Amino acid sequence: MVLETVAVAVWLMVPAYLPNNAAVVAGGGRPIDGGFTLRGRQLLGDGKTWRGTVVGILVGIALALALNAIGPSVERAIEVGVPAFVPVAVVTLPVGAMVGDLLASLLKRRLGVARGQSVPVLDQLDFVAGALALTAVTVPGWFGRTFTGPVLVVVVVITPVLHVGTNVAAYRLGLKSEPW
Ligand code: CTP
Ligand code: MG
Repeated sequence: MVLETVAVAVWLMVPAYLPNNAAVVAGGGRPIDGGFTLRGRQLLGDGKTWRGTVVGILVGIALALALNAIGPSVERAIEVGVPAFVPVAVVTLPVGAMVGDLLASLLKRRLGVARGQSVPVLDQLDFVAGALALTAVTVPGWFGRTFTGPVLVVVVVITPVLHVGTNVAAYRLGLKSEPW
C-alpha cells in the first residue's frame, strides 16, 4: 500500500521532475531576460536560459508520452496500477515545473539573492509547486483523482531528497557550479 503510493508518486513526478535536470544539462546560451535589470538587479539571472527551458519542457513532454506508452506493460509486471497522463497534463507538468523555477529565480533576484546562491526549500520545491499548481488549475478533475492526499504527501517528502541528490551528482560531474 505504502510502496504502491510511492510508485504512483514517482511515476507522476517524472515529467515534472526531470525537466529541471534536463535544463541543467542543456542550459547555456541566451538568458530569457536578455540581461534586463530592474532597480539594479537582473530580472531572472543568467541561469535561466531559453535553451535550458525549451529542452526541459520537451524532455518532460517526451517522458510523459513514454510513460503513457509503457504504462500497461509496467502495470502487468509490477501488479500496481499506474496513472495515465491526460493530454493537458502531458504539457502542464513540465511547463509548470519550468515556470515555477523561473518564478523562484524572479523572487530570488527581487530579494537580492545572487544567481546560484541557494534558498533552501524554495530551490527544492519551486518546480513541484509550479507543476502541481498549473495542472490543478487546468485539469482539476484529473488532478483530484490522480494526486490524492497520500500521493501529495509522498511527493512533498521525496522531492527535496531526490533534488539534493541529483544536484550533488550534477555538481560532481561539473554540470553545475554549486551543489544545490
Ligand atoms: N538552467 C537553464 N534554464 C533554466 C533552468 C536552468 O539554462 N530554465 C541551467 C543554467 O545553466 C543554470 C543551471 O541550469 O545555471 C542550474 O539551474 P538553477 O539551479 O535553477 O539556476 P541557478 O544558476 O542556480 O540560478 P538561480 O539562483 O536563479 O536558481
Ligand atoms: Mg540554483
